[in-house]
Amino acid sequence: MYNDSRGHTITTCSEDAAVACNLAIQKYCARSADTTATLKRSIEADETCVLSQAMMGLMICSLRKNASLPLAKNAYDIACKHQSSATARERLYVDALQMALQRRPEKLVACFEAIVSEHPKDILALAMAQGEAFWTGDMIRSEKLSRSTVSSWDASITGYGDWLAIRAFDLEETGDLANAERIGRQAIELNQGNIWAAHAVAHVLEMRGESEAGVLWLDSLKEHWTDSNQLKFHLWWHRCLCHVERGEYEEVLEIYDAWIRNPSNPLIEALPDFYLDIQNAASILMRLELVGTPVGNRWQALSAAIETAYLDITSPFTSAHCAMTFAATGEFDKLEKMLSEIESFVTTQGTLSDAYKTCIPVVKGIKAHRQSNHTHALELMMPLRSSLWELGGSHAQRDIIFQIMFDSARQLNQVDLVATLHHDLEKIGFADPTSRAGYQLD
Ligand SMILES: [Fe+2]
Repeated sequence: MYNDSRGHTITTCSEDAAVACNLAIQKYCARSADTTATLKRSIEADETCVLSQAMMGLMICSLRKNASLPLAKNAYDIACKHQSSATARERLYVDALQMALQRRPEKLVACFEAIVSEHPKDILALAMAQGEAFWTGDMIRSEKLSRSTVSSWDASITGYGDWLAIRAFDLEETGDLANAERIGRQAIELNQGNIWAAHAVAHVLEMRGESEAGVLWLDSLKEHWTDSNQLKFHLWWHRCLCHVERGEYEEVLEIYDAWIRNPSNPLIEALPDFYLDIQNAASILMRLELVGTPVGNRWQALSAAIETAYLDITSPFTSAHCAMTFAATGEFDKLEKMLSEIESFVTTQGTLSDAYKTCIPVVKGIKAHRQSNHTHALELMMPLRSSLWELGGSHAQRDIIFQIMFDSARQLNQVDLVATLHHDLEKIGFADPTSRAGYQLD
């Protein structure tokens, strides 16, 4: 019997398996690119290690790729076979994996909440709960969970910086920008390589419209992201948002080609259709076009990357970005095919199918906007403004849907709708929306 760095049991007879599992938890929180490889070492040392198997399955499910599900199911089967010797906490991870396999994010988060209620220092459950709640748009739930652990954490606990980063992002997405920034910066003082904390503060600066500070912040930390997973590309996406605000479109295109969509980057080579990368790329190209900047043949290259992934109906927010891509390339047949898959999916039960009900008019609205049918685009999308959170993602990410609506309102010279959208943005928490790029009347 072994423990993780916070004293939770890792049931295994192999010290190597326990050490590698504990390290994998640390690397998961740090968004290290070799987290999966580390976890594999644990499983190679002891295939019966239930926590490592469950964690592996959960990480595979979090890729939101249907083709990978058999691997996750295999991990689940092995974990089930050996779970009678595991602790109640480890068995809850197996339950979580079962919910992930069934694509039931609400129940999946409930499993993590059950773990945290008994084990508030379980940083893996906190991190995974935040990730899943985020992609259902329910950051109020995530904030409530991290708030419940405040009295359990202090600087003496291993992983305190990771906990601060989780807390900072929860606070940012639920509107407490001051404390989010304070706690995020505290985490960076402990470790400049804390990329999740860097990300939380970047969000604060984005909401405040502090684009120069955003560039300086991300520039000062970028050297620490060498070993990070794809989250570093998302940090470069955040930097692009700052450059768009400053009218520095050449910089945006350079960053796009070097980081956001660089086909020779090993992480993109290994997983060319990773959902977050697709979102980053489509969102930036769309933002550039909305401010009148040509993007060359980049949409076509992006479309090629999602050749099969667009039929994974596993993330409404990603599907919306696939729709932007196919609308831009004029591949309306693919857009319609995806729509028909989504329409079939929403007849199933569960949180994700409910979210996809909101996604349908968004996809149709994106198509109508691209076809300059702005009246129809607004008819489809304006009634959804208070439901868009269901798609998942952050305020900063969902902003692109508002920008598309704004563009249609601007094209039609609908001054009342322009004012409504400015008001919406203010209510969401964006500072000074009338001065933002993408929200200007010519
Ligand atoms: Fe972000």
